[in-house]
Formats: sequence, C-alpha cells, structure tokens
Amino acid sequence: MKFTSALALLSAVASAQVVIVPTGPVRGPNTLVFKEINGVKNNECLTFTNDGTIVNTACANANADRQVTPGKLLGADILIIQRSFLQPFRPDLVGKTACIGFNGTTFRAEDCAERSVLTTYFDVGNGRIVANGDGWPACLSGHDSKAIVTVDDTGRSCAQFTITAVTPTKP
Ligand SMILES: *[C@@H]1O[C@H](CO)[C@@H](O)[C@H](O)[C@H]1NC(C)=O
Repeated sequence: MKFTSALALLSAVASAQVVIVPTGPVRGPNTLVFKEINGVKNNECLTFTNDGTIVNTACANANADRQVTPGKLLGADILIIQRSFLQPFRPDLVGKTACIGFNGTTFRAEDCAERSVLTTYFDVGNGRIVANGDGWPACLSGHDSKAIVTVDDTGRSCAQFTITAVTPTKP
C-alpha cells in the first residue's frame, strides 16, 4: 500500500512539468570570436576595450577580450562578454556579467541585468549582431575611422560577421 502511494506520488511529480526559469544570465555551449567581413584590414575581430567600447582589432582568438558566449536571460537571447571589467573604467561592471547591450545609440558592454538597455543576439542565418528590440532592428553596421563599431538603427545595412568557436579564456 505504502509502496503504491509512493509510486503515485512520484508519477505526479514527474508529470507536474515545473519549468524553472533561471533569473540570471545562462551561458550557451559555444564561445565565439566575431570577425567582420570587410572589417579593418588585419584587424577584423571585435574586442571590448576597458571602458566597454567595441572596436575592430587583431584576431587574437585566445584573448578573453575577443570572446563572446551566446546565452539566455529570462528567455531572451543575449551575448555574454568573456572579459571582466575594472575600476576606474567601468565601476558599474565590476563583478557583474557583462553583455553586448544597446542603449538606443550605441552597442557596448553593459550589465546583462541592466533593464534600461536592450540586450543583443547573433542572427546566425544572416551573420549579424542585432538588438533585441520590439520593432527596433538596430544592428552593428561596420566601423568608423577609429575602428569603433557603428550602428544602423534601421537594421538595413548591417555588417556581417563570421564566427570562430574558441575555448573560453579566464576573464
Ligand atoms: C549610449 O551610450 C553611449 C556610450 O556610453 C553614450 O555616449 C550615449 O549618450 C548613450 N545614449 C543614450 C541614449 O543613453
């Protein structure tokens, strides 16, 4: 009798389908380096400077500051930056998980949990880095004369990136 009710309890638990959504950023399985097609010659890869600016630089794929891991936050796609950030450059990012964020004008490193900026994702089919905006298809569109990435907030002329999977380097 006891045995039967224990089984009944177990099967009730198994069929309850409790879905626990983690509240923090969750890393996906692949860590990537992004290389811009027609980027700055011999400096086509994206990196994150100390203040979180995204620039084209040499493809030193083993450097943490080149590496990005696609993941999820509360169901939304995010791009998690591998490197860490320090005082005095980005006090807001010390000890935080940083993501590529979009604040309406600029893509740069932001706290993944910061709600006032949009997160971003890699559109694999088109090779684009795009903001997670409802009806706001802003994308990285290339780079300026200082190799700093530029934005097209209409999403019409996006830069394209190839990706290389790498082993994550300690931040
Ligand atoms: C977005 O961030 C950039 C870089 O920090 C800053 O210059 C710009 O004013 C910000 N834009 C908005 C709308 O907050």
